[in-house]
Amino acid sequence: MDKVIIFDTTLRDGEQAAGANLNVREKLRIAKQLDELGVDVIEAGFPVSSPSDFESVCLISKEIRRPVICALSHANAHAIDRAWEAIREAAHPRIHVFMSASDVHLLYQLNKSREETLEISREMVSRAKNYVDDVEFSPMDASRAEPAYLYNVLESVIDAGATTVNIPDTVGYATPYEFGELVQGILANVPNIHKVVVSVHCHNDLGLAVANSLEAIRAGARQVECTINGIGERAGNASLEEIVMAVKTRQDFFNLITNVDTTQIYKTSRLVSELSGFAVQSNKAIVGANAFRHQSGIHQDGLIKKVTTYEIMDPKSVGILANTLVLSKLSGKHAFKERLAELGYSLDEESLRRSFQSFKELADKKKEITDRDIESLVTEELRTVTETYHLDHVEISCGNHSLPTASVRLIGPDGQSLADAALGTGPVDAVYKAINRIVGIRNKLTEFTIKSVTGGIDAIGEVLIRVESDDETYTGRGASTDIIVASAKAYMNALNRFLAKKAIEEEKT
Ligand code: KIV
Ligand code: ZN
Repeated sequence: MDKVIIFDTTLRDGEQAAGANLNVREKLRIAKQLDELGVDVIEAGFPVSSPSDFESVCLISKEIRRPVICALSHANAHAIDRAWEAIREAAHPRIHVFMSASDVHLLYQLNKSREETLEISREMVSRAKNYVDDVEFSPMDASRAEPAYLYNVLESVIDAGATTVNIPDTVGYATPYEFGELVQGILANVPNIHKVVVSVHCHNDLGLAVANSLEAIRAGARQVECTINGIGERAGNASLEEIVMAVKTRQDFFNLITNVDTTQIYKTSRLVSELSGFAVQSNKAIVGANAFRHQSGIHQDGLIKKVTTYEIMDPKSVGILANTLVLSKLSGKHAFKERLAELGYSLDEESLRRSFQSFKELADKKKEITDRDIESLVTEELRTVTETYHLDHVEISCGNHSLPTASVRLIGPDGQSLADAALGTGPVDAVYKAINRIVGIRNKLTEFTIKSVTGGIDAIGEVLIRVESDDETYTGRGASTDIIVASAKAYMNALNRFLAKKAIEEEKT
């Protein structure tokens, strides 16, 4: 059976989503998980765009050896040279060159003629080819370009050495029928197209990214560019999990396979959501909290009689385990470690010790500990940012007849104990103001969300916040059975991310 190449661009286009802002270590963690997931290509970043993108592409190239590691590049010499410097140590390096192809881009953005643009595209593919065999070319905004011109560009870059040509629906404008026709047109009219892999890259502005990608592979495309949870620029990219599961579930229709180990999907989705700070909507296909929940009586009745009456995929096939009651306060470290392994976590001794301690503290407060509780504890432990300030103690007083007051104690960079107190409009405001008095970072809170990990009054609350400082957005997360403590942890997490970034910038200057 023919294979569809899965090209994951979570770390490049996904990271372009407003507010994502992943640090280098977080990108490496995601890359490792994408490797476990079995994607064929990881687009690790856009090296010329920033020093931290350059650094993360270098690191991923050195560490992740199985998949192709791809670096994006403008069609200019300096960008291509930087892309090559970043991926030169990869086991399987690829340079991905892009250049606009639609008249609206050429006229209003680049102020160049079609002839000039075609020549630059050809020349830059050839420059990339001098560095590496595996070269991809994308004519940006292809779905709004004139087909005859597009065919010329593709023919020319293939002659110059491109091995994959990618057709982007950059602004998510195409409909599935049109996009399928575009791919068919390319296959029929570009004379040397049989020498390369035809790829597609669809954006979700009209909610059609997955449908367009699937129509394209039906028409003959054999690489799909996509992101975990569909994150990306504006409304995002085509969602990897939806494409992979559509191809798998409807193999009778597509007659295609992918290399993806689908049982890793859920874990990957949760990791990307955690690190990017983008929650997955409950009704999201494949990975949403409700994706496999059956509410109506008729459906439940059908499921009991025969599961396939209302379930087209087995939740286990995407790595969703039944939400079992696993451990209690009597459970020992060994049982805890085993359960972690079943959930796919392997922690070093120190992280295991701390997670087990948090588990015991939680088990004192909460009778029933589920897999989701354990995941929340471990996620808290694995937060990657180095802490400059550690939240040691938080105490509040509030109520309908008292002024919300908070006192906090932090452990500072040299291990010193730093305490302060503040009044606020509410308990969270009071805590944040007390922390500000110690840390002194000017910032604005732009987002605050709280959700419970499981049902029940004793559930863990997870807080996600975003703060803006120096024109950058920083995400923070915290979890606790006490929502004020969770809010304080989330704030400390965001401030520590800010400080970690500043420290790296200072080191470089
Ligand atoms: O959407 C787009 O056109 C892109 C290209 C760089 C492939 O992301
Ligand atoms: Zn894109």
